[in-house]
Amino acid sequence: MKQAIDKIQSEAEIAINASSNTRELTEVRVRFLGKNGEITAIMKNLGSVPKEEKPAMGKMLNEVRVAIEQMLESKEKTLAEAEKKARLLAEDIDVTLPSPKSEHLGTVHPLTIVKNEIIDIFLGFGFNVAEGPEIETDMFNFQLLNVPKDHPARDMQDTFYVNDNIVLRTHTSPMQARIMTSQQPPIRVVVPGKVYRSDDDASHSPIFHQVEGLAVGKDITLGDLQGVLTAFAEKLFAEDVKTRFRPSYFPFTEPSVEMDVSCTICHGKGCRVCKGTGWLEVLGAGVVNPVVLDMCGIDSKVYSGFAFGIGVERIAMLKYGVPNIKMFYENDLRFLKQFK
Ligand code: DAH
Repeated sequence: MKQAIDKIQSEAEIAINASSNTRELTEVRVRFLGKNGEITAIMKNLGSVPKEEKPAMGKMLNEVRVAIEQMLESKEKTLAEAEKKARLLAEDIDVTLPSPKSEHLGTVHPLTIVKNEIIDIFLGFGFNVAEGPEIETDMFNFQLLNVPKDHPARDMQDTFYVNDNIVLRTHTSPMQARIMTSQQPPIRVVVPGKVYRSDDDASHSPIFHQVEGLAVGKDITLGDLQGVLTAFAEKLFAEDVKTRFRPSYFPFTEPSVEMDVSCTICHGKGCRVCKGTGWLEVLGAGVVNPVVLDMCGIDSKVYSGFAFGIGVERIAMLKYGVPNIKMFYENDLRFLKQFK
């Protein structure tokens, strides 16, 4: 029996060394250690061994089993590592190869194009970019902008109220108050973002986009506002675009203006798009109301500023001649693909 056990051990060793992959090794494991394997078979023969030799044989068998187990394990490790290496090599991808041409490449959404253009122009003028919350307090959305509770100016904006003190922001202007209550001049910032109003027709959507602008410093005047916004219009529309500023009303600016640009279609002669006036209204603006500066903790005797609010959809409709605001949200590929 001892000879038989020795033979199993040396055969196992040979078989293990000869295995060239883990699958073969598993076969070897089954052959020697499996339920119907050679070790199990010889264990069954233990019964026929003389009584006094049994313990020694049992011990020997066990040692051989452990030895085979160890050889299997160490070989298994070596083979697994080699196989992993080979697999990684085979799966190696050349990321520098050109990809196959796709029919369905995405494009940048027209509203994103216009928003980025607006931001880029103001970055060029030395403005920073900030963003704020879309769910806003009544305090920031209205009160700090000089629109007290129950003030008739609230009717200018059809507001979604969450409760008495929380609204979906109706404009990006609350960021003016957030910025001014948290930092001192000089301030030059633009604020892109979504805004919400209970309003819905061909040129209004309950969700739309604005870019707010604010500059606060010493000796800032209405003239600075006109200069900056005219330079902006020239960059956004065309070098030769004309601007005009009409008196308007916003509670947070005094004086307030609306800026028109000469019609981009007829260049001022009068057409369907500008309804024969030669002008297109593009944004609201004004000199920051001193009351707002003081409420936000900026001394209006020392500082002044200007602010403006640009409707991104409105600009995009003018720039691309889009007749209905809903076209921006329907995601019709025939529409979107035109902005490649
Ligand atoms: N917040 C105004 C609106 O949504 C637009 C606006 C007007 C913003 C004048 C301003 C401003 O900063 O000075 O109708």
